[in-house]
Amino acid sequence: KEVSFIGAPLAAGQHQAGVEKGPQSVREGGMEAVAHSLGWKFHDVGDVDCEGAAAQFTGISAVDKPKNCEKIGLANGLIHEAVKAEAQKGNFVLTVGGDHSIASATVSAMRSVHEDLCVIWIDAHGDSNTPASSHSGNYHGMPAAHVMNWIQPPLPGFEWLKTENMLKENHLAIIGLRDVDEVERELLRDSGVAVYTMHEVDKWGIGQVIDMALHRINPNSDRPIHLSFDVDGCDPSIAPGTGTCSRGGLTFRESHFICERLSMTNNLVSMDLVEVNPDLDEPIPGRMHGDCHLVTAKSMTSRLAVELIGSALGRTV
Ligand code: ARG
Ligand code: MN
Ligand code: MN
Repeated sequence: KEVSFIGAPLAAGQHQAGVEKGPQSVREGGMEAVAHSLGWKFHDVGDVDCEGAAAQFTGISAVDKPKNCEKIGLANGLIHEAVKAEAQKGNFVLTVGGDHSIASATVSAMRSVHEDLCVIWIDAHGDSNTPASSHSGNYHGMPAAHVMNWIQPPLPGFEWLKTENMLKENHLAIIGLRDVDEVERELLRDSGVAVYTMHEVDKWGIGQVIDMALHRINPNSDRPIHLSFDVDGCDPSIAPGTGTCSRGGLTFRESHFICERLSMTNNLVSMDLVEVNPDLDEPIPGRMHGDCHLVTAKSMTSRLAVELIGSALGRTV
């Protein structure tokens, strides 16, 4: 059991500074010790040089949406290569963001190694906007659409993103939605994506929802699974340190159950943990002890991130 940790400190897909500090906060939060305690060999590959890659583009963008298109495309190209290289070694690939923009790089990289990959996407948002449907122009609201080939013509900077590495609609399930844009809602409704909003989580419970999602995207339980976990899928009361909070999200236990359940499939091959913004985070209330002394994170959302990854790596109660 070997896990490769890739830091992907990309912040250009949204407008709140601080999300580029996510990887460091997870490292300092005890990620390596937690992985070791669960029997994993831990390889910290370091941070992808997202700043350096973005700096390669100095001109005026060829498109107005998404914002920072070429810069994000160049950084994501490096992330894609890093994820692919680690996956080819047979390691579990853990990529810590950065904003959710990185998911078009990670999903396409995993897809290039595992032809039959399926994806569970945890999020308050659909991240299925196209440049035309997006109000904000922020690319972190588009990576799911992009990796399913919904964005035409090809975006400048993303020349590395090949159609053959994109994801089929019926291999994606999104869970936790409660903040979806109007046109984005129609796009998702008319697609083969398996969508479970918070309403479905309330109605069926998270256990049923995961089973239904897996049944849709992995009916014979034989496909490798990638988990793309946006921490804003969790309720802001447990994950305040993120740029686009939305009330009424997944509870602490629901969030952990998702990671535990996917770990138990033995088919989980990779995970993104994104949108942790240490600058927006809140201190841990003094008497709120966790159950794992190895987690040394000093604020709520960084700590939750380390704990959730621990669950995905096989931690049980
Ligand atoms: N739907 C909004 C947008 O497109 C919010 C997206 C938030 N995405 C995220 N990864 N937090 O701008
Ligand atoms: Mn989100
Ligand atoms: Mn997201």
